Amino acid sequence: MGLIKVHDKTFEIYLSEDTIQKRVQELAAAINTDYAGKRPMFIAILNGSFMFASDLFKHLTIEAELCFIKLASYKGLKSSGNVVTSIGLEDDIFNKEIVIVEDIVDTGKTLHNFLPKLEHQQPKSLRIATLLHKSEATEFPLKLDYIGFDIPNKFVVGYGLDYDGLGRNLKEIYQLV
Ligand code: IMP
Repeated sequence: MGLIKVHDKTFEIYLSEDTIQKRVQELAAAINTDYAGKRPMFIAILNGSFMFASDLFKHLTIEAELCFIKLASYKGLKSSGNVVTSIGLEDDIFNKEIVIVEDIVDTGKTLHNFLPKLEHQQPKSLRIATLLHKSEATEFPLKLDYIGFDIPNKFVVGYGLDYDGLGRNLKEIYQLV
């Protein structure tokens, strides 16, 4: 029961639609309180965060802006690591209250590489909201301000997250069996 197949792999239900929706509402409530009287700008990172960003945004009662960006990682010629490029951040974030919206923070490498680019533009404040956090997998520690669920270090799919391009449309989150 609760098993699905994506490509060649079997996944079992891990977080139900109801559980996810309740937690997203709690995160939105916390953000509404923390940013009362302010006008934060949410920067959601594509592709995976589109569903979380959409649901979170629906429950915001404060004035807020939203934009989506895409981060592309390229393997460097040397083994020293990846270069992360941002595509689509056309808005000026100087002196703005910024909340980054991520689907999942795994090793932390993606945001670790991207944050300095944002900080360089001198936002007034910079916080991170992530639906999922694999804290056991941390290699690049980050200060995560809003965490939906701390999950074990197992591959998950659904609610925006994909396995090799598929599974993003699932309303629940499934874990690799
Ligand atoms: P990090 O740079 O290691 O923190 O990884 C962040 C990115 O890896 C996420 O934005 C996802 O795109 C991807 N990712 C990490 N773990 C999973 C997973 O379990 N399922 C699907 N994508 C994942």
